[in-house]
Amino acid sequence: MNFHDKIVLVTGGTGGLGRQVTMAFLEAGAKIVVTYRAAEEFASVMSAAEKIGVAPPAGVSVDVTDAQAVEKVIAEIVAKHGRLDILVNTVGGYAGGTNLWEVDPRKYDQMLELNLKAGFVLARAVVPQMIRQNRGWIVNIASKAAFDHAAGGALYAASKAAALALFDSLAAEVKPFNVNVNTVVPSIIDTAANRKAMPEADFAKWPKPEEIARVILFLCSEEARVIHGAAFLFTGRVE
Ligand SMILES: NC(=O)c1ccc[n+]([C@@H]2O[C@H](COP(=O)([O-])OP(=O)(O)OC[C@H]3O[C@@H](n4cnc5c(N)ncnc54)[C@H](OP(=O)(O)O)[C@@H]3O)[C@@H](O)[C@H]2O)c1
Repeated sequence: MNFHDKIVLVTGGTGGLGRQVTMAFLEAGAKIVVTYRAAEEFASVMSAAEKIGVAPPAGVSVDVTDAQAVEKVIAEIVAKHGRLDILVNTVGGYAGGTNLWEVDPRKYDQMLELNLKAGFVLARAVVPQMIRQNRGWIVNIASKAAFDHAAGGALYAASKAAALALFDSLAAEVKPFNVNVNTVVPSIIDTAANRKAMPEADFAKWPKPEEIARVILFLCSEEARVIHGAAFLFTGRVE
């Protein structure tokens, strides 16, 4: 896949999954802007890009739940490049292991901010530009928990299910403007954080972030223009 003429925004683009999405787009020739929070994570992506000899991404440190700040970032990208083709939102967060009646009420806001509001704020900011272009691609990352509502994870499941609904509804709205909108729905991903949290697990069964990244690139390609308003489950690996 060739993304040489594409301007891509990967939010959370230095995280466990986001980093692999960023690297895959860089290798495919795209011009990338990533959002990050930890400067050392961004520095690590920069040196990974240098190591494989591709142009490094631009980086912006921003809280993607802050609507004003996000609008400013999008305006700057459009002012610089004249367009914004692709948004992949990998920002999200997990909270679980506590029954609903024992959860700290602050977790409610945290889950909805990270897993729902971030996507809303980002989509709201990028869609007008994509409509002007009459072309665009948006991929949001939900979770298998959006369908599979396990005990102890009510807020996480509810926030991801709401995000799935939000992007599905958006897909219906932007179809006339040639903007493809899809959702990726992973089960446990093989990230360093998950290996640390679940050292006894069989890591081989978990989908690798680079494998999910490759599918995300496909969803953002012309070849996938018929895939719209879909949700893709990544439940594991077949060897
Ligand atoms: N990992 C899994 O097993 C799994 C399974 C199913 C679904 N998912 C979903 O997949 C997505 C990626 O997961 P991941 O494991 O790659 O997560 P991750 O490693 O925590 O990456 C998320 C990135 O977003 C950043 N971020 C958090 N809040 C932000 C904010 N308000 N503004 C800007 N950036 C912010 C994080 O920065 P900090 O590091 O500074 O917090 C991090 O760099 C998430 O939506 C997650 O819910 C993950």
